[in-house]
Amino acid sequence: MKVLDLGRGPAMASIFLAREHGVEVWASELWIPAEENAARFDQTGVGDQVHAVRAEAHDLPFESEQFDAVLSVDRYHYFGSDDLYVGYIGKFLKTGGQLSIAVPSPHRELRELGGAPEYLRSGVGWEVLAFHTPG
Ligand SMILES: C[S@@+](CC[C@H](N)C(=O)[O-])C[C@H]1O[C@@H](n2cnc3c(N)ncnc32)[C@H](O)[C@@H]1O
Repeated sequence: MKVLDLGRGPAMASIFLAREHGVEVWASELWIPAEENAARFDQTGVGDQVHAVRAEAHDLPFESEQFDAVLSVDRYHYFGSDDLYVGYIGKFLKTGGQLSIAVPSPHRELRELGGAPEYLRSGVGWEVLAFHTPG
């Protein structure tokens, strides 16, 4: 399988998928230089299976229908809040491919609670504003 791991930071999911499932992963990330992550892949023995890419999530350097799966763990809320973004990312999937998104999600909207609890504000920062209920 060819997997796109979108906005993956320190790459734990990419390394896990390569090691445990033998898949080939394109690990696309904006904030961390590709060389830094490529060195981590080499150190963890998956350098030939995981490809480090530095890219902005709205301007991905991939061809259409290239991946069997696209996943994004704890990052989608940084770049996917536009309703139309899911259509953009979907075009990189082969027919029948799978999109998997995992994001932090409170049980109630934070505004209903009068704002984010202190432990979230101090731990996450202002970006906690992007946390929403599953609904
Ligand atoms: C602060 S991190 C998420 C925190 C996470 N808990 C962790 O352990 O790294 C946010 C991630 O989203 C990615 N990101 C933010 N904006 C992005 C964008 N416009 N395009 C692609 N990736 C983006 C960053 O590269 C980073 O990996």
